[in-house]
Amino acid sequence: MKLTAPPKLNRFLAVLGRREDGFHALELVSTVLEGREDCCDTLEAEASPILELHLEGPTSAGLTPTPDNLVLRAWRLLEREAGRPLPARLRLHKTIPHGAGLGGGSSDAATALRLGNTFHELGLPMETLLRLGAELGSDVPLFLLGGTVLGLDRGERVVPLRILPLEPLVLAHPGLHVPTPQVYRALAAVGYPPVQPLPSLPEGAAPPWRNDLTEAALHVSPALAEVREALARTGGEPLLCGSGSCWAARYKTREAADTAATALRQTFPEWKIWTW
Ligand code: C5P
Repeated sequence: MKLTAPPKLNRFLAVLGRREDGFHALELVSTVLEGREDCCDTLEAEASPILELHLEGPTSAGLTPTPDNLVLRAWRLLEREAGRPLPARLRLHKTIPHGAGLGGGSSDAATALRLGNTFHELGLPMETLLRLGAELGSDVPLFLLGGTVLGLDRGERVVPLRILPLEPLVLAHPGLHVPTPQVYRALAAVGYPPVQPLPSLPEGAAPPWRNDLTEAALHVSPALAEVREALARTGGEPLLCGSGSCWAARYKTREAADTAATALRQTFPEWKIWTW
């Protein structure tokens, strides 16, 4: 049994303040980016007498099948919920880059919850999976819902939104790794952005293209500015993905996005470029 674990794009990320527990109150509109095998992890389960995890794929370097691995943590939460061991041979194939703001680890965790629930016929309802997901990380629940999702509180309280078509996109990954906790900590250094919650959106309208972590991420990793400038030069409107290091850029037409992607691949052969 095999499931895919796609990346996500936060199309709108507002920081509303710092909470007493150290996390930040957020308002997010996130879309799960389906349909690209070259930027999507997969998780496979086979029968086995014990629980084991094998890691493979172009972006699996540095990951270990130790108990802190999000896939194993998700599986252990299912075992806790089921009240029994849930043995399986798990194979995680990674192509989503790590530390890129695309939510790869969270997507893997959400996929592990869905896979274990089906593989072992646990019959846990979505409500339970969402609760377990929120224990694993703020971004995990949005992957359980899929599609386009409103995220509240830490981002873990999720509400499905009506379908909001994605604008033609280019995603650029410069190969940098930006640690999320450092970016949130840097908010204090660069100054919290003015609080601007999500405005009500007319039917079918895309959310404002905004990410309140941008200045903090540039403070942590000034080299990110080069990616933003390169995307802007191709006529796109850049947006930092989560806490970085990927940037997305939206274009008016599919042709404009494709032309930009071709130009970027030529100028920056070491970057990863995807179109959506
Ligand atoms: O929830 P998750 O483990 O994905 O969060 C990673 C880190 O990002 C947290 O340890 C925290 O530093 C930061 N964070 C935050 N506020 C949020 C979400 C994440 O400060 N709403």
